[in-house]
Amino acid sequence: MAFEMILTETHGRTALIRLNRPQALNALCDGLMAEMAEALAGFDRDDNIAAIVITGSEKAFAAGADIKEMKDRTFPGVLAEDFIGKWEAVTTIRKPVIAAVSGFALGGGCELAMMCDMIIASDTAKFGQPEINLGIIPGAGGTQRLTRAVGKSKAMDLVLTGRMMDAQEAERAGLVARIVPAADLLAEALKVAEKIGQLSGPSVATAKQAVNVAFETTLREGVRFERGVFYALFATEDQKEGMGAFAEKRKPAFRNR
Ligand code: HXC
Repeated sequence: MAFEMILTETHGRTALIRLNRPQALNALCDGLMAEMAEALAGFDRDDNIAAIVITGSEKAFAAGADIKEMKDRTFPGVLAEDFIGKWEAVTTIRKPVIAAVSGFALGGGCELAMMCDMIIASDTAKFGQPEINLGIIPGAGGTQRLTRAVGKSKAMDLVLTGRMMDAQEAERAGLVARIVPAADLLAEALKVAEKIGQLSGPSVATAKQAVNVAFETTLREGVRFERGVFYALFATEDQKEGMGAFAEKRKPAFRNR
C-alpha cells in the first residue's frame, strides 16, 4: 500500500498508521481521510494483524479537519458528496484501534481520536473542539462522543467556548485511558496493542462489540447482547484453552478458533 499523507508500518501483529502532513499539523483533508479508510480496511482484513495504532507527530495528533480545504465548501456541496461520510470508516473496523495522541488533538483530530477504541495520551496532549471559533460546530461526532465520554457540563464547556484541555484534565474527565511521558507514547501504545494481539481473536472482537453496544442501546438490551456473545464464546477452542491453561498453571496458546 503506497500512501502520500499517512505512513504505515507493522510491528509484529500490530499495524501502525502515522498521520503525515507535518506542514499542516496533520490537518485531516479529504485525501488523508480516504487513505486512512483504505489503510484501516486493509489491516482489518489482514489475518496477520491483531490491532491497529493511529498516531501523529509529537506536536500534533491532528489539528482538525483541513480548514483551508473546507472554507469554500457549500451546503449543497457537502450534502451531495456526504463530506463526513468517509470518516465513518474508522468506526466500522472490527479489530481494536488505539489512538496514541501527542500534542494537539483538536476539532476533527479530537473526533478521530474519539472514534478509536481507546486514547493513550502523552503528557503534552491537548484536546479540544474549537469549531465554535470558526462559526461551525463539531461535525464528526464530537458533540455526541465527547458528551458520552466526559458528561454534559464539561462537553458544553469545551464545545461552547472552544477551549483546550490538557492531558491531565482529559484523563480525570474519562476521555483518556492512560497518560505517559511523551518519549514513551508510541512504545506504550504498541505494548498495549501487542498484549491484545496475544489474546483470543474471537474474545477480543466480541469484547469490542459489546463495549460499543453500551453506547447505542439500553442497559437491558446491552446486557442481553453481552450474555449472547458470552455464551457463544464457550463454543470456541480458545475458551477451552484459556480456562484449561489456568487450571494446569501454564500460559494459554490461543489459536483464534
Ligand atoms: C488547515 C492548519 C490547521 C487546520 C493548522 N494548520 N491547523 N491548516 N487546517 N485545521 C496549518 C496552519 O495554517 C499553518 O500553516 C501550520 O498548520 C502550522 O500551524 P500554526 O497555526 O502556525 O501553528 P501554531 O501557532 O503552533 O498553532 C497551532 C494551533 C493552530 C493552535 C493548533 O494551528 C490552530 O488553531 N489550528 C486550527 C485548529 C482548529 O480550529 N481546528 C478545528 C478545525 S474545524 P502555514 O501554511 O501558515 O504554515 C474541524 C471540523 C471537524 O476540525 C468537523 C468534521 C470534519
